[in-house]
Amino acid sequence: MELLQFPYGSDGNLAYLLWDGVEAAAIDGGAVEDILDSIKERGLTLKYVLNTHDHYDHIPGNARLLKESDAVFYTPAEACSAEIKLGSEIIGTIKTPGHTKDSIVFTFYMNGRPCLLSGDTIFNGTVGNCYTKDYKLYFSSIEKLLKLASDTCIFAGHDIVDYTTGVVNELEPGNAFLSAYKNKCLERPLFTTLEQELKVNPFIRYNDPLLDELRKKLSKEKNMPIDTPYEKWRILMTIH
Ligand SMILES: [Fe+2]
Repeated sequence: MELLQFPYGSDGNLAYLLWDGVEAAAIDGGAVEDILDSIKERGLTLKYVLNTHDHYDHIPGNARLLKESDAVFYTPAEACSAEIKLGSEIIGTIKTPGHTKDSIVFTFYMNGRPCLLSGDTIFNGTVGNCYTKDYKLYFSSIEKLLKLASDTCIFAGHDIVDYTTGVVNELEPGNAFLSAYKNKCLERPLFTTLEQELKVNPFIRYNDPLLDELRKKLSKEKNMPIDTPYEKWRILMTIH
């Protein structure tokens, strides 16, 4: 699979164009002009218009992309039961409810390496807001993703690196990996890996003893238990 990433909007949204051979898919394709130009330049055919979830800032390109092509549109729920094939490659899906009820991530391989388009489920340095208020559900989605290979590349739905690395720096001023991580985040396309997130991202490091002191402090302040992996995650989400 090949990939292009396009920033759009005022909240650091990231749109994606994936393709194999001449067949392409736009995912959260809000950067419509960039996507249409890239399709034209490369002689691609837009086969699918897809979204990681139905938040307004992820779907604004859908109507125009569908008008300008013969692409098929799948909602996140429909994408999970469809076969999404580009050239000789398959795009898979994993249901990851929590940020929204319909949140999914897309999976594929690029140069033999496993990749995720993670929407607002996981970002460089943080996770999404738990708008469903179902924290246990969000936690089980994060657990699902952490079972994937540690070198899995993650392409998120927003570039909020400046903000999230600032938060990490405040929460964990001695994080030894943060400066190298920030440098990695200057590369384009912007991406991260599960391995990197497990060194930096406080909101998925529920098994990391380096955050135990912070957890203990929060546990006292909020009068919340920190015994189970879920509780160790949940306490950090109180300051998300
Ligand atoms: Fe969202």
